[in-house]
Amino acid sequence: MNSSSSSSSSGKQQQQEEEKEKKRRKQGLGWIEWARGWFQLIYEMFFQRIAASHLENPLPLPSLNDLTCIVTGSTSGIGLQTARQLAESGAHVVMAVRNPKAGHDLVQKWQSEWSGVGLPLNIEVMELNLLSLDSVVRFAEAWNARLGPLHVLINNAGIFSLGEPQRFSKDGYEEHMQVNHLAPALLSILLLPSLIRGSPSRIVNVNSIMHAVGFVDTEDMNVTSGKRKFSSLVGYSSSKLAQIMFSTILQKRLPAEAGINVLCVSPGIVHTNVARDLPRILQAGYRLIPYFIFDAREGSRSSLFAATDPQVPEYCEMLRADDWPVCAYISHDCRPSNASEEAHNLATSHRVWEKTLEMTGLSSDVVEKLLDGEEVQCRYGLKQE
Ligand SMILES: NC(=O)c1ccc[n+]([C@@H]2O[C@H](COP(=O)([O-])OP(=O)(O)OC[C@H]3O[C@@H](n4cnc5c(N)ncnc54)[C@H](OP(=O)(O)O)[C@@H]3O)[C@@H](O)[C@H]2O)c1
Repeated sequence: MNSSSSSSSSGKQQQQEEEKEKKRRKQGLGWIEWARGWFQLIYEMFFQRIAASHLENPLPLPSLNDLTCIVTGSTSGIGLQTARQLAESGAHVVMAVRNPKAGHDLVQKWQSEWSGVGLPLNIEVMELNLLSLDSVVRFAEAWNARLGPLHVLINNAGIFSLGEPQRFSKDGYEEHMQVNHLAPALLSILLLPSLIRGSPSRIVNVNSIMHAVGFVDTEDMNVTSGKRKFSSLVGYSSSKLAQIMFSTILQKRLPAEAGINVLCVSPGIVHTNVARDLPRILQAGYRLIPYFIFDAREGSRSSLFAATDPQVPEYCEMLRADDWPVCAYISHDCRPSNASEEAHNLATSHRVWEKTLEMTGLSSDVVEKLLDGEEVQCRYGLKQE
């Protein structure tokens, strides 16, 4: 047999193996996992206040004068409360928002309410639109160009377009997947040089218990193949699960010496603008059950805890030492918790990692290059530090 026919037969074999592997892959959540996910969601809704009864509101924070924190989506809801409380505790806060005017108006209001209480808040506003990956690259370039440290990145901005038809960003991605997972993932990677300068530093991803009813099909990230019927619930829950899976591999790729911890948090079920797309009747219901639902300040506690608690790095280190298959996950009661069973599926997490890098235009060795201080290229921007 000549070399070309042997290489074509090994090529065929590889193709057949790949086909078999694809068939072996899970096509969705098993019904027990699915039922467990819904149970967890309903349980969180009705018992979150009891579970979190040991927490004060607002969460007391230490002095944060030495911290620089970026909070995305801080013009409303949980992000607004998070940014304000970090700033009032002395941190330098960057509000990364898609509506800078709303950001500046808030800063003005907070400064005037704070005057006489302490030094002026150290807070600034920068534009970031997660529906545009170019905007993410521009933001990261502008931030990295300062050559300053970043101690905490809080990927808070998110959408849940309940009942809305399926929509795609100008980058061609389903909007929940882009805003809740792809764009924050790109931002986290591109800001690594600044996070390294700020080490020990943290990336806090505001996730959701709804990841537990999600499933990520890396062959169909846009949910357009027809294998699954799209709904905003499918879009939202899959994007939140993808975020945990990506965070798991990012944490594994970062050596302990880099001093960067990656966490996901569940804020609880919180009364914010996230419900603005609900039908009116459901919005009324939302308001009728205030006892069960957290307000935005209560909902910000898990983000603030993950961003500032001194025991968090130790907990992340313990998971690393155990080679735990999923990244740190902090629940609405500020206690370490376990993400869903599917989030522990390392094979899928690796596929989500690869697919995310491909979709955001990054190379597979981007983390290693950035750790070595090399420049990286991203097809959505020209060059990074
Ligand atoms: N509320 C809950 O019950 C709940 C439960 C679990 C998880 N979460 C998560 O908590 C996070 C915060 O949500 P929230 O409840 O506080 O909702 P929210 O009040 O609607 O706030 C969302 C924030 O994200 C921003 N945002 C939306 N699309 C953006 C984009 N393309 N680019 C940049 N910023 C964008 C919004 O900006 P604009 O004001 O300009 O729209 C807003 O500031 C989200 O990740 C959400 O999934 C919420």
